[in-house]
Amino acid sequence: MDTRGIASPQESARGCSSMAGATMNSRRLRDFVVSMTSLVRDGSDERSILAGGVPLLAALVADDDWLPDTYAAAHPDHYQQYLLHCDGARRFCVVSFVWGPGQTTPIHDHGVWGMIGMLRGGETGERWGFDAAGEFGRHGATRLEPGMVERVSPRLGDVHRVSNAFEDRVSISIHVYGADIGAVERRIYDEAGTSRPFVSGYANAELPNIWGRGTEI
Ligand SMILES: [Fe+2]
Repeated sequence: MDTRGIASPQESARGCSSMAGATMNSRRLRDFVVSMTSLVRDGSDERSILAGGVPLLAALVADDDWLPDTYAAAHPDHYQQYLLHCDGARRFCVVSFVWGPGQTTPIHDHGVWGMIGMLRGGETGERWGFDAAGEFGRHGATRLEPGMVERVSPRLGDVHRVSNAFEDRVSISIHVYGADIGAVERRIYDEAGTSRPFVSGYANAELPNIWGRGTEI
């Protein structure tokens, strides 16, 4: 397995203490959004954003008690992409990716920096791309376990295919991108390297309310 770009829970945050199905704790996502907003406000450099963002995302996915069931629901036929938050200046967004058993993405790119934090289950990420001879192919794979974070970007490697590591259960990862990713024109590739444009959109029409702090004040 290729481990480039992956931070282990031990390296980036406290270890996973998964509690799938526990009471929603929206404070975790709210604190993450507040911290990411400060991070992108203080600088637009990809390296510094990823350096600061990886431990924040690792801390978010270290606990599995905050994602509302609405945004953790699998579709029987294809993976789901639920928008959880979009920065007002579109400097970043937070998305839950939900894979039903055996589901996979097409080979695709992003065009912007991204972080993938594993929340529940597991996923396999295959890196694809063109080599020096212009041949398109697969250049390794990574496996993410809960609490781990992977990075993607045009600088680090931007083309991949992601699959649920399990054939018998749902897996969920939390993605953060340097744009309103659902509105970005990206590309899908076949295994020969032929590509076509796509815009992913989102599965949900409403966002989770992470600002209901009345009972906390
Ligand atoms: Fe991706």
